[in-house]
Amino acid sequence: MLIAANQLAVNMDSGVATPGISFAAATRQSAAETGARNMMAFADQFDRLAIKRLSLTDFRCYRQIRIETDRRPVVLTGVNGAGKTNILEAISFLIPGRGLRRAKLADIARRQTADESPDTMSADGWAAAATLTVGDMNLEIGTGCEAGGGNKRVIKIDGSVKKSQAELGRYTSAQWLTPQMDRLFLEGASGRRRFVDQLICGLDPEHAGPVAAYEHSMRSRNKLLREGKNDPAWLDSIEDSMAQHGIAIAARRQAAVNRLRAVIHRGYGVFPGANIAMSGALENWLESDPALAVEDRLRQSLSESRSQDIESGASSFGPHKSDLTVYHSGTGMEAALCSTGEQKALLIGIVLAAARLQTEERGHAPLLLLDEIAAHLDETKRQSLFEIIALLGAQAWMTGTDENFFAPLGSGAQRFRVADGAVEAV
Ligand SMILES: Nc1ncnc2c1ncn2[C@@H]1O[C@H](COP(=O)(O)OP(=O)(O)O)[C@@H](O)[C@H]1O
Ligand SMILES: [Mg+2]
Repeated sequence: MLIAANQLAVNMDSGVATPGISFAAATRQSAAETGARNMMAFADQFDRLAIKRLSLTDFRCYRQIRIETDRRPVVLTGVNGAGKTNILEAISFLIPGRGLRRAKLADIARRQTADESPDTMSADGWAAAATLTVGDMNLEIGTGCEAGGGNKRVIKIDGSVKKSQAELGRYTSAQWLTPQMDRLFLEGASGRRRFVDQLICGLDPEHAGPVAAYEHSMRSRNKLLREGKNDPAWLDSIEDSMAQHGIAIAARRQAAVNRLRAVIHRGYGVFPGANIAMSGALENWLESDPALAVEDRLRQSLSESRSQDIESGASSFGPHKSDLTVYHSGTGMEAALCSTGEQKALLIGIVLAAARLQTEERGHAPLLLLDEIAAHLDETKRQSLFEIIALLGAQAWMTGTDENFFAPLGSGAQRFRVADGAVEAV
């Protein structure tokens, strides 16, 4: 049984995949025999998470659209500004978090554009709804903001309203790559932490809980210090929460990155392998001390750094100071020093490896949202990417301006053209 009962609850828990299939062995086999049929046979050993229907209402440039899909990868083509990324963004709201643009919820509701007739109103609320399938099970997910409902995202699963976004993670998972992420290794550590936490949530949906709780506590602490409300009991209790959640985050990251490292190191198709690790003070402490001792040390460090943190307006200790370090395993070079092309290939390799690990651990690959993916890749890499997606059995949603890039997918993908706020099957 590859699907843990606690990860796919109630109406999805009968998904059983054939145990004993070695993904690694299948990957080696695929290198020797790249026939799509062999790969599909492998993918068929696992359940597939796929969107069957996606409906958007007043979502960005879409007034109302509905896309019907099967389990194959999806190709969306259209000119710049057509609305391709908007569709991927809508899908990214089917999992916990702020979506692939990290947009403000208020920016998502459809706005009237200059060429619309004056009697067309801008929208207030918006909705994204999907029918998903895993194995033989169907699942209805709806999310959005109600008109006049303020900045609160409503989540419905099979018709019942859920209190927390985290519920979504028990059923769905998605990983994405966007052109903005091309600078992931060059920019600040916060993007890399988000990236790794996102990968981990696919493997371990419970990870989202402590991440959200920690951020909430940290914001409260920073605010209190900034406002000069130096109430020791209040700060003690916030720092206690930060220490508990902080150590949970660090420990989960370390465990997941260790599992990922073994898979990522091998590389995948023509995508290079990477040596990855979490680094930071907490990680160093965890090397020599048990988790409980590290939790105490974090609590104490936070307490002792209050006056210094009043000046900086930020917290000096915690998992928000850690970083994901990545080295190209072929050249030994740190990712930031690799060429732009190498960095892209490294990123793709990491995401694919995480999808492979997730397939092994949860019984299905995540939805893959690959924005403008083909443009950056030469023909060999594109071919390899398509083969790996087929091997994983992942419903990858890929966008591009040029349909020709996706020609090698043949009948292995379904195609849609995006234009003028509409999406048409081709
Ligand atoms: N809230 C909104 N309401 C209406 N249109 C929007 C909204 N947010 C973004 N857009 C429009 O969506 C279009 C961008 O869509 P996008 O999916 O990024 O295009 P692309 O096909 O290049 O990926 C732009 O023309 C932008 O003005
Ligand atoms: Mg785009």
